[in-house]
Amino acid sequence: MNNDSKFTLIVIGCVIFFISLIGMIIYGYKTFAISPLDQKAEKDYSHHFALVAEENENDYWRLVKKGAEESAEKNHVNLEYVAPKKADNDELNRLLDRMIAAKMDGIIVQGIKGQRFKDLVHKSVERDIPIVTVDTDAKASERKAYVGTNNIEAGKLLGKSLLENTSGEQYVGIITGRNEAINQQERIQGFREMVKGHKRIHIIAIRESHITKNGATIASYKLLKQYPKINAFVGMSALDGPGIVEGVKEVAPFKNTYVLAFDTLPETMQLMKAGKIDATVAQYPEQMGNDAVEVLIRLQGKDLLDNLIYTKTNIITKEDVQRQDKTQ
Ligand code: BGC
Repeated sequence: MNNDSKFTLIVIGCVIFFISLIGMIIYGYKTFAISPLDQKAEKDYSHHFALVAEENENDYWRLVKKGAEESAEKNHVNLEYVAPKKADNDELNRLLDRMIAAKMDGIIVQGIKGQRFKDLVHKSVERDIPIVTVDTDAKASERKAYVGTNNIEAGKLLGKSLLENTSGEQYVGIITGRNEAINQQERIQGFREMVKGHKRIHIIAIRESHITKNGATIASYKLLKQYPKINAFVGMSALDGPGIVEGVKEVAPFKNTYVLAFDTLPETMQLMKAGKIDATVAQYPEQMGNDAVEVLIRLQGKDLLDNLIYTKTNIITKEDVQRQDKTQ
């Protein structure tokens, strides 16, 4: 190799090295940097909390966030909101770790399964950063408190509604948000406990919606194709009800299918008014966000004796919605 070629090689090597270095710096900054609070913010806020939600673009979590923000503002708390773009436990753990590294005064997070989550909660609590689980508890972790629905009881409410409002054989298709989500497992457990021993109720199959309406449409569509005798659907997460209605419309539009949903997002309420969803379990996500912030404030420097803070749940039927609509 002559000197010219050597020189060119060295120059190319240097250019590649510097481009990689700059890339690494940018990547490192984007991955690990937490937007720094300016001096004024530090002074004005009593605490700096984080809310780590299940999924960013999700109407249910927007309500949790809204409630948390209202309480944060009232209590002069600076609240950081982070969430995976699409529900993903690994990403949630990564965000939780980032919030611990950012030395928050407290963290509100959806409880999830797995050793990694437990380890992170342990690390957080060791660093005096209390953790409150919201919406879904992770009892096996060292979280300081849980704020949200009693999900086993909520599942029982679904079962009770099915028993009270149907007659004859019921072949049930269950649509669950995510198989690995603890709250979904608990709701299914509660539902099973309630219908157990009632010979006319047959749970045919359980399919995932990935907590999207489209996912619930596809899942219920496929279930109905595979098991045409299904005449009742139970949706276990917020967008499952509207998805089920679409799926049923495609495969069995003239069949009388009993549809039970979860949550009271606007589309669900409209479909109840139209008689397409028979009943839903109401949860109070804004209340959860609100209470979780209050609980974190109380947890500063001390533990709580009563650390299971269940927010309300109740069944709303299509008749309730239609009646209310008439009186308005
Ligand atoms: C659940 C949340 C879930 C949401 C999905 C709700 O019923 O409580 O955990 O993220 O549905 O949209």
